Amino acid sequence: MAEGKIVIVGATQGIGRRLAETYAARGRDVVVTGRDAERAAGVAAEIGERATSAAFDLAKPETIADGLRDVGSVGGLVVAALERDENSIRDYDVERAVYLVTLKLVGYTATVHALLDRMTPEASILLFGGQAFRIPYPGSTTVTTVNGGVEGLVTTMVVELAPRRVNAIHPGIVGDSPWWAAKPPEVLEMHSSRTPLGRLVTMDEVCGAAIFLLENGGMNGVCLNVDGGRRFG
Ligand SMILES: NC(=O)c1ccc[n+]([C@@H]2O[C@H](COP(=O)([O-])OP(=O)(O)OC[C@H]3O[C@@H](n4cnc5c(N)ncnc54)[C@H](OP(=O)(O)O)[C@@H]3O)[C@@H](O)[C@H]2O)c1
Repeated sequence: MAEGKIVIVGATQGIGRRLAETYAARGRDVVVTGRDAERAAGVAAEIGERATSAAFDLAKPETIADGLRDVGSVGGLVVAALERDENSIRDYDVERAVYLVTLKLVGYTATVHALLDRMTPEASILLFGGQAFRIPYPGSTTVTTVNGGVEGLVTTMVVELAPRRVNAIHPGIVGDSPWWAAKPPEVLEMHSSRTPLGRLVTMDEVCGAAIFLLENGGMNGVCLNVDGGRRFG
C-alpha cells in the first residue's frame, strides 16, 4: 500500500490521531478529520507537513461527500469516529439512539460511499467497532448495537465491493486512550485484573493491528479483537 493518502475519520484525538501520527512518521500523507474544521486543521498542523485536514459530522451523512471533496487519491480509509453514549432499553432515549446509529452505521457507510471512486486499486478499508458488541455493560444498549452493526457492514462491504478489502477492529478498553486515561486508577486496575494480559491494551497496539489489516493483502472480512484476551465483563 504505497499510493494515495490515508484518510482517517475521527483523528483529532485518541486512536485515530495516533494512527495518523504513525502513518505520517512512516512517510505517508494523511488526512485528519473531525467535526470542527479549526480543530482538525490544528491537529494536522501539529502532526506536520504530511497531514491535511477535512471536517464533517458523521451524524449528518448528507454532508459527508462535500466534506471530503478536496481529498485526492485515497490509499487507505479508516473510519474510527465515535461519540460516547449511555442508553438502556428501559430508559430509552430515542433521539440519542438515532443520533449514534446514524453516526456509526449510516455515517460510516456514507463515508465509504463518498470515497470509493478515489480509492487506489490497492487501498483497503478499516472500520472501528468495539468489544461492547459482545460484552455489554449497563448503558451500552446503543453502543453494543452499533458495534455489532459494524460486523454487518464488513460482511456486506466485502461482498459488494469485492475485490476491495474491508476489515474491522474491535478494541477492548484502550488504557492510554483519552477517555480511559482520565478514569480513576482503581477503575483501570479493575479492568486490568479482568484482562488475561494483566493490563489494558494500548493505542500503539491497536494502531499496529490497524496497519496490519490495512496493508496485508490476505486480510479481508476480518473483525479483529484487540482486547488483551478479555472474554467476560
Ligand atoms: N478507546 C477505547 O478504549 C475504545 C474501546 C472500544 C472501541 N473503541 C473504538 O475505537 C474508535 C476510536 O476510539 P477513541 O477512544 O480513540 O476515540 P475518541 O478519543 O473518543 O475520539 C473520537 C474521534 O471521533 C471524532 N468524532 C466524534 N463524533 C464525530 C462525528 N459525529 N462526526 C465526525 N467525527 C466525530 C472526534 O473528533 P471531534 O470531536 O474533533 O469531532 C474524535 O476525533 C471508536 O470507534 C471507538 O468506538 C475505542
